[in-house]
Amino acid sequence: MARPKKKLYIRTFGCQMNVADSELMAQVLGEEYELTAHAEEADLYLINTCAIRRKAEEKVKSLLGSLKFLKQQRPQLLLGVGGCVAQQEGERLLAAAPHLNLVFGTKGIYHLPELVGRIARGERVVDVGLNRDCPELPRRAWLPGTFQTMVTIMRGCDNFCTFCVVPYVRGREASREPDAIIAEVADFLAAGGQEVTLLGQNVNSYGRGLAETITFTQLLRRLNGLPGLSRLRFATSHPRDLSPELIDAFGELDALCEHLHLPVQSGTDRILKRMNRGYTHEHYLEKVAALRRACPGIALSTDLIVGFPGESEADFVQTLDLMRAAGFDQSFSFKYSPRPQTRAATYPDQVAEEVKAERLARLQALQDELTLKSHARLVGQEHEVLVEGFSKRSIEELCGRLRTNQVVNFSGPRELVGSLTRVVITEAHPHSLKGRRVQGLDHLVSVGRSA
Ligand code: 5AD
Ligand code: SF4
Repeated sequence: MARPKKKLYIRTFGCQMNVADSELMAQVLGEEYELTAHAEEADLYLINTCAIRRKAEEKVKSLLGSLKFLKQQRPQLLLGVGGCVAQQEGERLLAAAPHLNLVFGTKGIYHLPELVGRIARGERVVDVGLNRDCPELPRRAWLPGTFQTMVTIMRGCDNFCTFCVVPYVRGREASREPDAIIAEVADFLAAGGQEVTLLGQNVNSYGRGLAETITFTQLLRRLNGLPGLSRLRFATSHPRDLSPELIDAFGELDALCEHLHLPVQSGTDRILKRMNRGYTHEHYLEKVAALRRACPGIALSTDLIVGFPGESEADFVQTLDLMRAAGFDQSFSFKYSPRPQTRAATYPDQVAEEVKAERLARLQALQDELTLKSHARLVGQEHEVLVEGFSKRSIEELCGRLRTNQVVNFSGPRELVGSLTRVVITEAHPHSLKGRRVQGLDHLVSVGRSA
């Protein structure tokens, strides 16, 4: 009889890429460990960390401190810290936390079975080599009922934006072979999957360095042809590398959702230059106009940093102007936070914390207005919705997303979770929409109305 598996608990901080990496950790350890949702019963506890801003890093360190008590109660517990903070801190983490068994960097994931074997034999291990290989893994097994997945198509980043720690902690850019990606997506669809999100730090440069000549748009075209794929999304795109062929793809590929996350970071040419972003306010807005021509109704989201070194009030106002001109449907905004090794951390003209906080509040108030306007435009329209689960307020209500990525709550039977349905938008709220499911005669009436 097979030996019962040991329990693995993973606490994930940070971005979608980290969520995908945590899935990978569970996959590579799958022969010996099975995931648990209860930290108290874990035999192996892994923290997957994020170093993008100082706050994220502080959270990791405070969690690590509090785990001393869990380890006192369960001395046999093995504790590991992986991901970007582990990559950045290496040996220092192990020295600061005597209860820690393992520190593994962003490439160490692939070597976890060997590393965990060593800590189980009593060693304390640090593995933060950035030149480690990332071999293709055996086929993934999806849990029954999984209808959304993320597929990592490339790792690392060669852009060196002056604020960003990613190139230092995730290493040089490397694309996965297209056939491996296509096989993974085809497997997922065969298991009943509906929606795939392709992940990379800068997906537009997908394909560089591969033996086969292939662009990101060509990869999207090949995936779009797979039977059963309802929704295809990707993150993240760099505005400088957003090609005309990719812009056109939004108007052409059935599965490609009408939503693009296109981080602008700032609306001022001088700051964009200091950030090493490689585009201007005007170039960015030209790309937005081209996207809207190719795909009217496309939703746009972005990332913004306030208080980058040297940002004046006039610079900040230009960022607000760009937000209005682009009409972002959603944005993720952050106070600039100096990161180790990055060029901007050495700039002498750092902006005061209070100024950053005040600008962030003004920027977020503007985004709330823009989001509400974009939500209000949807009222009365009928949309396809992928039902993702239950609404935050009540399990009587379903929750899903439009192709354009907005969240909608509506009544319907729970069996709909994981499938596509159609919904008329009835109310616009700041963070979500309310809708009514279209069915039977209702559908005919709604079609009749809009004809
Ligand atoms: N400070 C603040 N925000 C940052 N980001 C990246 N580095 C920093 C930093 N040092 C933001 C950018 C990026 C998002 C993932 O995090 O907006 O697009
Ligand atoms: Fe960081 Fe710039 Fe690379 Fe994005 S493109 S991961 S912001 S260096």
